[in-house]
Amino acid sequence: MKIQGKHIVVTGAAGGIGRALVHRFVAEGARAVVAADYDLAGAQATAEVAGPTVTARRFDAGVESDVKDLVRHANDTNGRIDVFFSNAGVTGPAGGPLETTDEDWDSLWRIHVMAHVWASRAVLPQMREAGEGYLLNTASAAGLLTQPSALPYTVTKHAAVALAEWLSITYGNEGIRVSCVCPQAVRTQMLDAAMGQTEGASTVVAAAGLIDPEDVAQSVVDGMDAERLLILPHPDVAQRMAFKGADHEGWLADLRAKI
Ligand SMILES: NC(=O)c1ccc[n+]([C@@H]2O[C@H](COP(=O)([O-])OP(=O)(O)OC[C@H]3O[C@@H](n4cnc5c(N)ncnc54)[C@H](O)[C@@H]3O)[C@@H](O)[C@H]2O)c1
Repeated sequence: MKIQGKHIVVTGAAGGIGRALVHRFVAEGARAVVAADYDLAGAQATAEVAGPTVTARRFDAGVESDVKDLVRHANDTNGRIDVFFSNAGVTGPAGGPLETTDEDWDSLWRIHVMAHVWASRAVLPQMREAGEGYLLNTASAAGLLTQPSALPYTVTKHAAVALAEWLSITYGNEGIRVSCVCPQAVRTQMLDAAMGQTEGASTVVAAAGLIDPEDVAQSVVDGMDAERLLILPHPDVAQRMAFKGADHEGWLADLRAKI
């Protein structure tokens, strides 16, 4: 899909990858962009720099009525939504079942999985009626390859990848396109927070190489142009996936050796 002339909603737009994508979508000629975030001042700052085709909206990705309200607002302001980019995310707590609480799990499940389910529930009717539309979500390389330091992040990001695949298989024949962005280390506030939290995150960064949000934006535009399900800004991730597919036990042993 080309971005020119499209109406796009971007969540997590106050900073990092979301903000870079708002700017890139405007540069690619999007007709209208709604920059949504829990942090309204941050979303407004994104909109101010991006220009008059961008409006800011406060919403909580972890609450279905907020997601519905965001879609209603975008429809009322700009008409049918062509692309919904569900990108908001959080680091979440470090550790596994012994360190994390049910409240931690519930929060990450809502923000990393249900937010995408609720967005698709809200926008699919108008997209199916039009016979076209694009659902884009940001998962993570942790959703394909596991992040040993953080279980809830790893599991919920795996679920986001599975959701994207399911939607693509189920609605692809109706003209609905789906992509899932799976970066490794990107220079954003979230990464700073994760690095401060665990040594595991620093290992990921050292192994992966840091890229900028603008590099992710380039990969997203290319991936949408090709209408590819997996958008992998770090080429290394595709190689690791191939290793995992070819030698699953070897891949597990390799990760164990690094803990
Ligand atoms: N930075 C990385 O290394 C990296 C790697 C892989 C995947 N990701 C994913 O990329 C996405 C964007 O993260 P980023 O790196 O740009 O971090 P970021 O912290 O710069 O941006 C995340 C944005 O999401 C917003 N947000 C968080 N919870 C929200 C909620 N409940 N409702 C609405 N907005 C909310 C924050 O206010 C923030 O503006 C996330 O889904 C993250 O998991 C990031």
